[in-house]
Amino acid sequence: MAIRNIREIGDPVLNKNCKEVKEINRRTLELIDDMFETMYEADGVGLAAPQVGILKRIAVVDVTGEDPILMINPVILETRGQQSGYEGCLSVPGKSGLVTRPDYVKIQAYNEEMELYELEGTEMLARAICHEIEHLEGHLYVERVEGGLVNTEDLVEED
Ligand code: NI
Repeated sequence: MAIRNIREIGDPVLNKNCKEVKEINRRTLELIDDMFETMYEADGVGLAAPQVGILKRIAVVDVTGEDPILMINPVILETRGQQSGYEGCLSVPGKSGLVTRPDYVKIQAYNEEMELYELEGTEMLARAICHEIEHLEGHLYVERVEGGLVNTEDLVEED
């Protein structure tokens, strides 16, 4: 396992569409391990492969620190409701922005055995899942921010 270098906004790799994963090999498993390690080390709640320079449809999420989720070739099946809240991204260090997202999302994705599974998420998890899937399409949350970016350290904790 290794910590990988996180690419930052302005790096063209973050604006490319990622390729579907066809098979899992040793390199893919190593990438997945490294993505989890890199996300935890950076205190993030999600990380997508293009953020470490790999244009594959792989993302990891963990909104509690105890619920690691691996999404390979994720597809959104259903969304409901909406939530507005501040969000950030490891590729946009120190910044946050107000983004409206669905409050519920249902996805399908593959696990590391390439078995298809479905997952439902609400609130923070729904937000993180949508955020990471957008990375795989070459989009960053800053494109959706309402009212501009703010410094994360200036945000007052609301709850
Ligand atoms: Ni991000």
